[in-house]
Amino acid sequence: MKVFNFLCITLLLFTLHAVAQGPTDFLSKEFHKGRREALRSKMPQNSVAVVFANPVRNRANDVDYVFHQDPNFYYLTGYREPNAVLVLFSENQTDAKGTSYNEILYVQKKDAQAEMWYGTRLGAVGAAKELGFSTVMNGEDFINSQIDFKKFNRVFIEKFNDDYRNSTRNKAEIYDLVASFKEVSGFNEIQFSSEYVEKVHQAIANVPDKKLIELSRKINQELTRYPELKKDKLIMDFASAKNDNELKDYQQKISLNLEAIKENNFDFSFLPNNLATLREVKTEEEIKLLTKAIRISAIGQIEVMKAMKPHMSETELQGIHEFVYKKYGAEYEGYPSIVGAGNNGCILHYIENNKTKIGNDLVLMDLGAEYRGFTADVTRTIPANGKFTKAQEEIYNIVYKAQEAGIALYVVGGSMSAPNRAAVKIVNEGLYKLGIIKSIDEKHNYLPHGTIHHIGLDVHDPGNYNNFEENMIATMEPGIYIPEGSNCDKKYWGIGIRIEDDILVTKNGPVNLSAEAPRTVKEIEKMMAKKSVLDDFVLPNLDK
Ligand code: GLY
Ligand code: MN
Ligand code: MN
Repeated sequence: MKVFNFLCITLLLFTLHAVAQGPTDFLSKEFHKGRREALRSKMPQNSVAVVFANPVRNRANDVDYVFHQDPNFYYLTGYREPNAVLVLFSENQTDAKGTSYNEILYVQKKDAQAEMWYGTRLGAVGAAKELGFSTVMNGEDFINSQIDFKKFNRVFIEKFNDDYRNSTRNKAEIYDLVASFKEVSGFNEIQFSSEYVEKVHQAIANVPDKKLIELSRKINQELTRYPELKKDKLIMDFASAKNDNELKDYQQKISLNLEAIKENNFDFSFLPNNLATLREVKTEEEIKLLTKAIRISAIGQIEVMKAMKPHMSETELQGIHEFVYKKYGAEYEGYPSIVGAGNNGCILHYIENNKTKIGNDLVLMDLGAEYRGFTADVTRTIPANGKFTKAQEEIYNIVYKAQEAGIALYVVGGSMSAPNRAAVKIVNEGLYKLGIIKSIDEKHNYLPHGTIHHIGLDVHDPGNYNNFEENMIATMEPGIYIPEGSNCDKKYWGIGIRIEDDILVTKNGPVNLSAEAPRTVKEIEKMMAKKSVLDDFVLPNLDK
């Protein structure tokens, strides 16, 4: 017995030690609790929200992609493991023993065997303690739970991704949790469809008997143009009906389904809409972590500016950025890194990054560290040899001026579409002055993207995009992309430039959180002339 106690205590100390080894500066449990309360305060009476964790996604064979939590789920819970679900009630519920609760978090069960392979799990007890939930249960308990979803006026869920794998490794994986929810809540009894498919359903339900055949013929013609329709069983049944009676039967089924959609208690828009409203304005805690992610990313840009040489590859440069992120303990990249030399810089989301020699081109580098869940989004475009050519500088300065004009408009109460309008105007004027477009209002494709988006737990964070509010953080990212073969002077071909910074909106005006990374032509050239610690980092040549 004594030996057993000793072992238990040693194991406990070991576990505590193991837990304490990781980072401790994640969002606090009070933050997540506060967010749940904020969401609950928007829920109407007798409603329930059900939020699922992200699925584990397969990479190949028995290797999965590194798991990343669903940002909405993380925002509300702080739980970073898969196979979990949060149930949030608008009012207190009472269980059979008389205990009352207004939320339940269901998590992965402790499992010594699984933990030996894949690492420690918080488990229900750990999650209650670490995440500040009073009611935490295992995933299996969700499957066996007696929650009567049908009794609620509204059931708030997000659209299902439908990319859950049934790996059958254990019986409470996300696949099983979602399947069980669909079964007990009555979700399976209704066929939900996209807006377009629903329109076709409406057309079928409302067509008079004598026009049924005509409509069926029309739909058969549409099937090839809109493959989405082929995936819909109700439509396919209707389209392949052999006679009038069958047509009427299937029409009846579609009408009943439309009734069920109207009368059911599921709501797919409450969660995305309200979480966008909550997430678009950052709390002090969020600003602190996001600022760190942004500063790490800006410092990555600085190190690459110092290290860049024409003989280097895009892959190598990406590695330097990402090494800086890891050095600061950032857990991931917030999105696949973009490092494109020359014409590759004109490919907006170029992620191959495999040009073996950047030569004397401009290199567009759009990267962001993810730190404790928060993602920066910073772009710099710099000349590989440390000196802008005249043509490069001409284009660069237009983009810079457009960005400056945009940033100045990040003010409380201002319209969030104003910076983009200001930037586009300057880009058009600049292109016209250089003769790249022939008239100021010529339609062109040299700036094919928007120049602003929120950042946060997602690189493209949700938001309503109305007016700026204090403590929003959004990018300002104008660009000009002139691919080879464009209808302009050849000296501009292959120039792709984007400058992207992350701007905090304050009562005292905009604050550029990524300003540490040089932005003007002069500042960049000055930084690139500096020595880098990597100048002396030489590895053996494996090709000799
Ligand atoms: N890195 C993606 C974007 O700039 O939106
Ligand atoms: Mn961006
Ligand atoms: Mn970007």
